[in-house]
Amino acid sequence: MSWTSFPKLELHLHLEGAADPAFVRKLADEKRVDIRAAFDEQGNYAYSSFEEFLHVYEVATQALRSPLDFQRLTQSVLENLAEHNVIYAEAFLSPDFCGDRDLVAWREYLAAIQEAHVDGVTLKGIITCIRHFGPDKAKETALCAAETAGDFIVGFGMGGAETVGEQRDFTYSFDMAREAGLRLTTHAGEWRGPQEVRAAIRDLGVERIGHGVRSIEDPSLVKELAETGVVLETNPGSNVALGVYPSWQDHPVAKLRDAGVKVTVSTDDPPFFHTNMSHEFDMLERTFGWGEEDFKALNATALDAAFCGDETKQDISKLLEAT
Ligand code: ADE
Ligand code: ZN
Repeated sequence: MSWTSFPKLELHLHLEGAADPAFVRKLADEKRVDIRAAFDEQGNYAYSSFEEFLHVYEVATQALRSPLDFQRLTQSVLENLAEHNVIYAEAFLSPDFCGDRDLVAWREYLAAIQEAHVDGVTLKGIITCIRHFGPDKAKETALCAAETAGDFIVGFGMGGAETVGEQRDFTYSFDMAREAGLRLTTHAGEWRGPQEVRAAIRDLGVERIGHGVRSIEDPSLVKELAETGVVLETNPGSNVALGVYPSWQDHPVAKLRDAGVKVTVSTDDPPFFHTNMSHEFDMLERTFGWGEEDFKALNATALDAAFCGDETKQDISKLLEAT
């Protein structure tokens, strides 16, 4: 069966990473920016390793220059989400790509992003620093986050190369965001092992982990996650596309869930990985036999773990109950 019309929640989605390659090429042409090297002959994003993926990702952002570009991008991302009946999404937003972390510029980009609207899709933002850009830039990003925290900006997080530096290098930024009332998540346990997940919880005090799937390599960590309720934002299609796991069959999402860990499922950067939320659900059914009850439970976990306020949660809950 196809799960396209089933309502879905998505908690781990990078806004720039959700840009369709055709959309990015059009913007680049308009601005006469030459980013042809980012695409293969079929017009898809071209990369063959995680490092290359991060590079192509950053090259593609060169086409996104103005607040209006980000408004158009957000509009197209919302339209894509609506096609897969994603009724609630949290998008990672990076001030690094929106005026180089300048607070005045960031406010303009943010206002433009919030202009985008599609009926039936509620969007919230998680401001995200980029690990391989280093702790000093992360502090500037955290300031953007602290200054714009509110109904729309609900969280702070970190993406980028997990293989660079340590989680503890970013304690200052995460503390600043927490003091501003933001909820916290960070990428960990995608490329490094269980120790990285432990470090994220210990040093940054996050309540959700981006990916976190390599926790499966340490049974005592799996037990701890189940007991403490730290939520994993898993992205199986992303992990298979980037080679963290050779196939869906090898992906630990079902084992983690069955061990009592709170797991959610998202797409990460859908066009890069030739996926979308319907495809993730279809693959979960095909690979692990998940069905309606499993997907309802997955939605309940995601709603509980969402960083939005109670009023939004109640609205989403009513929509889920009505289906
Ligand atoms: N930024 C966008 N996608 C990412 C991923 N899968 N891991 C780390 N940083 C990212
Ligand atoms: Zn990610």
